Amino acid sequence: MSEASKRIDDATEQVLLEIVHQHGTPAYAFDVERLRAQANRLRVELPDAIEIFYSLKANASLGICDVFAESGLGADVASAGELATAVEAGFPASRLFVAGPCKSRETWSMLRELPDAVISIDSPSELSWLASEGLPNPVVLRLRPDYESCAVVTAGAGSRFGVPQDELPKCRTILDSGRINLIGFHVFAGSQVLEASGVIDHLRRGLDLSLQASDALSFTPEFLNLGGGFGIPYGIGQAELALAAVGTELESIIARARGARVALELGRYLVAQAGWYLTSVLAQQQTLYSINPHRV
Ligand SMILES: Cc1ncc(COP(=O)(O)O)c(C=O)c1O
Repeated sequence: MSEASKRIDDATEQVLLEIVHQHGTPAYAFDVERLRAQANRLRVELPDAIEIFYSLKANASLGICDVFAESGLGADVASAGELATAVEAGFPASRLFVAGPCKSRETWSMLRELPDAVISIDSPSELSWLASEGLPNPVVLRLRPDYESCAVVTAGAGSRFGVPQDELPKCRTILDSGRINLIGFHVFAGSQVLEASGVIDHLRRGLDLSLQASDALSFTPEFLNLGGGFGIPYGIGQAELALAAVGTELESIIARARGARVALELGRYLVAQAGWYLTSVLAQQQTLYSINPHRV
């Protein structure tokens, strides 16, 4: 392997070979120190007031969740299984964020035992159902971005996630019943944004959307989860996200947030560079790729 294409250093390679000798393949290996270092990097580069939730959809291994629970992060979960893992890992209920458009019966029954967990509500119909159930949990409304995103995987205007602006009046009627403990908003515009300018754009627009919703509902939020979408370099030649620039922008976002706590939910940024999937090569086969100039 040429030096340019080699993605791991010699010491790491030795440790991985040792793991293969001890445990065989296939195997997943994670470097716990790298997980801690990545969480710490966020602490150092982003304002102290920013709350970080680890999105278990990136990797829900209990050992990984243990590390982030100990590091003081919260957990963003999207299924009953992820919720059970987060509880087992020791994330306190007040640092659990339960999201997703399809919450199962198991998720709701677990939430009855976790009255401090924050619930992100995805639609007026889900909000109406929650009002009829009378759960005391703090609730945020997920807002559907009405803007384009530069993310590799987008969750914006054309997606099925979150409440579009024109459905806010329906939500207002349900909220007026007084049976929902609304504390704020949730916006997630997309994943794997490697340019700081793209992440900054997401965060700014997410805040703008939240403030518009706050005006539409005549309500002052105390908590905003603005998503994140922080990317990581996958290909050779790609650079790390410039976190310091994002940190500077977050200072002004906090200043504009009308006193609300500001949170981010990050998955791949926290874990993806700390793990390896180890396999054995059984045979090699060559393929000649031809690049169609009209498609690149
Ligand atoms: C709502 C939501 N939050 C968080 C994430 C985590 O994204 P990432 O791993 O890119 O940080 C995703 C990914 O799809 C998501 O849909």
